[in-house]
Amino acid sequence: MFPVNLMAFGEVNNDIGEAAFAGIVGQSSGLRSVLQLVRKVAATNATVLLLGETGTGKELIARAIHEHSPRQKQPLVAFNCSAVPGSLFESEFFGHERGAFTGAHVQRPGRLELADRGTLFLDEVGELPLELQPKLLRLLQERTYERVGSSRTRNADIRLVAATNQNLEALVGEGQFRSDLYYRLNVFPIRIPPLRERRQDIPLLVNHFTKKYARQMGKRIDTVSETALQSLMGWHWPGNIRELQNVVERCVIMAEDEVLRLEPGVLPSEVQPAARRKDSGQKAEIEAMLRETNGRVAGPHGAAARLGVPVTTLASRIRALKINKHQFHQI
Ligand SMILES: Nc1ncnc2c1ncn2[C@@H]1O[C@H](COP(=O)(O)OP(=O)(O)OP(=O)(O)O)[C@@H](O)[C@H]1O
Ligand SMILES: [Mg+2]
Repeated sequence: MFPVNLMAFGEVNNDIGEAAFAGIVGQSSGLRSVLQLVRKVAATNATVLLLGETGTGKELIARAIHEHSPRQKQPLVAFNCSAVPGSLFESEFFGHERGAFTGAHVQRPGRLELADRGTLFLDEVGELPLELQPKLLRLLQERTYERVGSSRTRNADIRLVAATNQNLEALVGEGQFRSDLYYRLNVFPIRIPPLRERRQDIPLLVNHFTKKYARQMGKRIDTVSETALQSLMGWHWPGNIRELQNVVERCVIMAEDEVLRLEPGVLPSEVQPAARRKDSGQKAEIEAMLRETNGRVAGPHGAAARLGVPVTTLASRIRALKINKHQFHQI
C-alpha cells in the first residue's frame, strides 16, 4: 500500500479570473467551464437553467450565482417544485390573502414575494405540474402575479435560477412540459457534468471531505490509502458528489489511525470489487445492444433509445468503459 498524502493536494482555490468560488472544490476542465459561465452570467439578470444529475452541485452553483451577482445582499430563496403538493403550490409560491381558502386565517406572502429584489432558486422545475406552468410563464414574461384570493397585481423583481435533473426537452416531447415555458427557462443553460466525467476532481474532493469530517470528529487523518483512492476513482458515482461525501464521512467515522481506508463492509456493498463487476456486466450489455444496432448510439433505433437512457449518458458510459463502437459497424 502506498499511502497518498492528503496535504500534498493543498488547499483548492478555484480562482477563475477575478472571482473566487468559496466551497467549490475541483480543478477539472468540466467544472472550470461551469465556473466560467457562472462568473459571466452572475453579473446579469438573466434566467439561468442548471442541468445535472442528482448530487452534482446544482444548489451549490445556484448559490454561487447569487453570491457573485449584484443581488448578493438581498435574499436567495429556494422553492422546490416537487416538495409542495399541487393544491398548495399556488398559495406557497404566490402567497395568499386572509380567507382565500378554508384554513387561510392570516394573509401570508409567498416564497416569490420573500425573494423580492433577490434571487429565486426554483429547484426540480421539471416536476412543476402542467396546470401550474402557465402561471410561471406569465411571471417570467410579465414579472407580475397575484396572491391567491387577491385581485391586486404585484410586480416581482426577481432573478430566477431554475434547476432540474430531468431532460426537459424530452418532457416537452411527451407533452409534460410546455414548450413556451421551456424556452423562457432555457435562456442560459449550464450543464454540470456528473462526477464520473471529471474523475480528476475525486482526489481533491476526498481530501476536502476527509479534512472536513476529521475536523468535525476531532480526528487526525493525513493520508488516504492508495487502494482506497483507486477504488474511489474507479466507481461510477451515480449519486455524484453527495454520494462521495457520504462515503468519505463513513470512512472517517471508521478510521482508527491517521490513514483513510476503505475496509470491506465500510462502503455500500456495490462499491469496490462490485464496481468492477458491475462495469463488466454493463459493458457486455452495451456491447450486445451496439451489435444489434450496428454501432448506432443516437436516434429512435439507436442503442440509447433501446436501453432507455439519454444519448449523452450512454456516450459517456461508452467512453468510460473504453468500448470501440466502430467495431460494430456493419459494412
Ligand atoms: N464541487 C463541489 N465541491 C464541494 N462540495 C460539493 C461540490 N459539488 C457538490 N458539493 C456538495 O455535494 C452535495 C450535493 O450538492 P447539491 O445539493 O448542490 O446537489 P444537487 O445537484 O442540488 O442535487 P439534487 O439534484 O439531488 O438536489 C452538497 O453537500 C454540496 O455542498
Ligand atoms: Mg438540489
